[in-house]
Amino acid sequence: MTATVIDGKAFAAKVRAKVAEEVTRVKAAGVTPGLAVVLVGEDPASAVYVRNKGKQTVEVGMESIEHKLPADTSEADLLALIAQLNADPAVHGILCQLPVPDHIDADKVLAAIAPAKDVDGFHISNVGLLATGQKAMVPCTPLGCLMMLRDHHGSLSGMSAVVLGRSNIVGKPMAQLLLGDSCTVTIAHSRTKDLADVVRGADIVVAAVGRPEMVPGDWIKPGATVIDVGINRIEDGVKEDGTPRRRLVGDCHYDSCAAVAGAITPVPGGVGPMTIACLLANTLTACCRANG
Ligand code: GUN
Repeated sequence: MTATVIDGKAFAAKVRAKVAEEVTRVKAAGVTPGLAVVLVGEDPASAVYVRNKGKQTVEVGMESIEHKLPADTSEADLLALIAQLNADPAVHGILCQLPVPDHIDADKVLAAIAPAKDVDGFHISNVGLLATGQKAMVPCTPLGCLMMLRDHHGSLSGMSAVVLGRSNIVGKPMAQLLLGDSCTVTIAHSRTKDLADVVRGADIVVAAVGRPEMVPGDWIKPGATVIDVGINRIEDGVKEDGTPRRRLVGDCHYDSCAAVAGAITPVPGGVGPMTIACLLANTLTACCRANG
């Protein structure tokens, strides 16, 4: 079998186009959705993410409010900024880019964001709403994965799903979303015994462990759907000028998994583009809820 490639880039473009259309409608009614993104410090990967978020926010017609704070910003100053954004009616979504520097307690920061503006879905109240099947702000990456799965399969009801990874950002909310769609869900992690056999039982595999090409094709049940959340930069040989050749790979070994799976997301161009598209969709949702 050769897997159908699930094109996250094209799907994300469709989501953004829909958001842009809706933003036009909301603006005509007198409200411009606003997304505030806070970045503390100079982590280069975070700076790239924040730049992309800002650019795409503007492209769909929303207002992008960026706060770039120095790495030595105190926790109190960051909390004061969040309080100010919570109170600002022009700000409908707030995102504090993680990780924050070590002297700042990330949990405290996430808890300070007003749940209705928590477009990351990381506030404990949104985590609880999602876990109890209520209307929550849903974390963007797992939401993007779910949208691609629903688009490909229609109903997920009764399918067995294995989520590899138990992070608060991806693994746990992903498992909740799949459960909400009536999958039988297993969360596997670094201590899981007989991991290959666990994965082999799954109709849906979502890999979010951050380990390059960890899942080989012979772990995949023939015809299964593989959603690869990993974005890992690896060195792969050397270039003619003697410098290392680098490339992006997922948590799954693409060629061997694609040879067995029914459908698979590529890296890059799979889950990645969906994350920001869902952030924009969440911001629009927050804005619409705030304005009736
Ligand atoms: N850092 C890596 N991924 C994310 C994300 O989805 N949201 C935030 N706020 N920070 C991140």
